[in-house]
Order: sequence, then structure tokens, then C-alpha cells
Amino acid sequence: MNILVTGGAGYIGSHAALRLLSDNHAVTVIDNLVRGNRGAIEALEKLKGDFLFVNVDVGDRARLETILRQRRIELVMHFAGLTYVGESVQQPLRYYRANAAAALALVEAMEAADVKRMVFSSTAATYGEPAPGHIPIAETCPQNPINPYGRSKLQVESMLFDYAHAQRAAGKDFAFAALRYFNVAGADRQGRLGEDHKPETHLIPICLEVALGQREAITIFGADYPTPDGTCIRDYVHVEDLIDAHVVAMKALRVGDTRTYNIGIGRGYSVREVIECCRRVTGIRFAEKVGERRPGDPPSLYADPSKIGAELYWRARITNLEEIVATAWRWKQAHPRGYS
Ligand code: UFG
Repeated sequence: MNILVTGGAGYIGSHAALRLLSDNHAVTVIDNLVRGNRGAIEALEKLKGDFLFVNVDVGDRARLETILRQRRIELVMHFAGLTYVGESVQQPLRYYRANAAAALALVEAMEAADVKRMVFSSTAATYGEPAPGHIPIAETCPQNPINPYGRSKLQVESMLFDYAHAQRAAGKDFAFAALRYFNVAGADRQGRLGEDHKPETHLIPICLEVALGQREAITIFGADYPTPDGTCIRDYVHVEDLIDAHVVAMKALRVGDTRTYNIGIGRGYSVREVIECCRRVTGIRFAEKVGERRPGDPPSLYADPSKIGAELYWRARITNLEEIVATAWRWKQAHPRGYS
């Protein structure tokens, strides 16, 4: 299939492009390289297959339409966007432009070029702070995002539902799957790609930077949460399993489908458990300190992934946190400064 991967120079998008190329699809990556890494594109260019990178912003509707037509795109995997909760509170317009407005331009370009399939990167942040009765979180949990990041992603989901329904009513076809990610972690097990965010804010990569001596200590953002050890609980899913869910969803899309799935392993680990796990994997007893809570962090978020299990037979294969961290550690050791 001819597939467009938006945000394909980013952490998750690049792993998707890698998998799709290995599956012999023709892959076109677009990325504005604001947060994406040219090094990830260089790694993808080394692989065999039909691969093209175009440096363009998803909001550039006219150029997108040209690319969709020229590359005869049949399906779009839409990863491009901004993903920092704190930054979204400080710069909401930037988030509504990069996430909501850009997706609108993309879907308009798809309509113009007659592209009918999309797999969209959504997020557990669209659920906000679920009531305790809704944890683990199923897709039926009410979506009440608590920050501009989550709201901008939920707006895209709503737009996709409205558009798919309107197309169906008009006797036309548009189908999408929105995958709501929990905490994505790890790296390609063959070490070809990894996680390199600038700035880095995520727990596991920061622990590995502390282990390498690049930072002094890991700061635990709050140890007074109503959880067994007082620290926040999250569901860490390996990036290759996450991409596998995209492939499964892509293959399942039929005329007019509007699918939503939670993607996680279905169990949570506390911040302290993750830190201990990183110490075991690295063999380094790096320092920790307890700091203030980070605004907007719900105490406990983990998925009930049974819907995608029942409907598409997907489940995470790498459910052992040590195995997930080991893949991230291997890449970090080989690329202590990331792609730069
Ligand atoms: N944490 C620390 N110290 C750090 C970094 C993180 O204690 O230095 C804690 C956080 O407070 C949180 C947990 O580790 O409790 C995980 O934090 P991450 O920043 O790694 O990930 P988040 O859970 O905040 O965010 C992830 C994605 C978001 C998405 C969210 C949805 O990165 O894009 O999951 O649940 F919105």
C-alpha cells in the first residue's frame, strides 16, 4: 500500500515508517522537523524499500494535496503534532494550530485527493482525570480532557467522527481508527531507532540520562498521591507493540468505519517501580529526589485494552517493563546524545 506517515521524523512516527517499510509498503514521510529528528530520517533512508521524505508542515494544505496525489497515497498515519502537556497550557494557540488546525488541513487535502483511510494518533490525555470507577480505562470512559493538549486531540477525534458520518450520509466512504495511547516507551529492538526528545520530559529516558551521568538525579514529581507507594501509576507500552496496533487497525478498516481503541498493556507501574526497574536494567544505583507534584498529572492511568483484543486480536507482546527499558537503554548507550 502507499502510505503517508506524518511526523515520521518523530519518535513514534519513525518507528511506524520503519515497520511499514519492513512490511514492503511504499512510505512517504512528511515532517516539519520542528521536533522531529533528521537523524531518524537518515536511519530510515538506509533501509531497503520505496521511501520518500518531504520537509513540509501538515498545515500546508496545498502541498499536502500535491504529495497525496503524486505518491498515490491510499492511507494516512497521522502522528505529527505537539505533545507536551505543560507547554500546551502555556502556549495553547500553538497546540490548537499544530494539532487541531493541521489535522483539518490534512483531512481537507485527503478529501481533495480522494484519500479515504486514516489511522490517527490520539491519547489517553483525552480522558482527563477519570473517576476511580473508570480505572482501568475503557473506551467508554467519558472524555473530559484537562489541558489544551488533550482537548486539541479530542477535537480531531470529533472532526473525524463528524466527517465520516457526513460522508456515509452522502453515500461516500471515509474510515478512520483513533488509537488512544498510554505511555509509549522503548526503542526498536534492532537498535536502528530510538527516543530522542528535545527537551526530554519523559520518565524512562530521563532515568537513563541520570544513569549515564548526564543529569544529577531523577526528581519524582510528587510522592503523596493516593497510590500504594505515593507515586503516580502509568501504563507503559513498547513502541513496537504500539505500531503493531496501527498495522492491525489499518488492515481492519472497512467502508465508513469509525474505530477507537485504547493502546496499553493493561497494567500500571508506579514512578518508583519504573525508577527501580531502570536501576536494575542499567546496573547503576542512580540518585533520586522527591519534588513537587507536576500540574495536570492524574494519580493513576492505565488501560483496559480488551476492546482491540476482542475485535482485532491485538495485545501487547512485550509486557515486561525490564524488557521495555532494556531496549531504550541499548539505544541510549549507543546514542548517548540521541540523534545529534
Ligand atoms: N515523572 C517524574 N519525574 C520526571 C518525569 C516524569 O516523576 O522527571 C512522572 C510523571 O509525573 C508521571 C510519570 O512519571 O507520573 C510519567 O510521566 P511522563 O512524562 O513520562 O509521561 P506522562 O504520563 O506525563 O505523559 C504521557 C505522554 C503524553 C500523554 C499522556 C497520556 O507523554 O503525551 O501520557 O496519559 F498525554
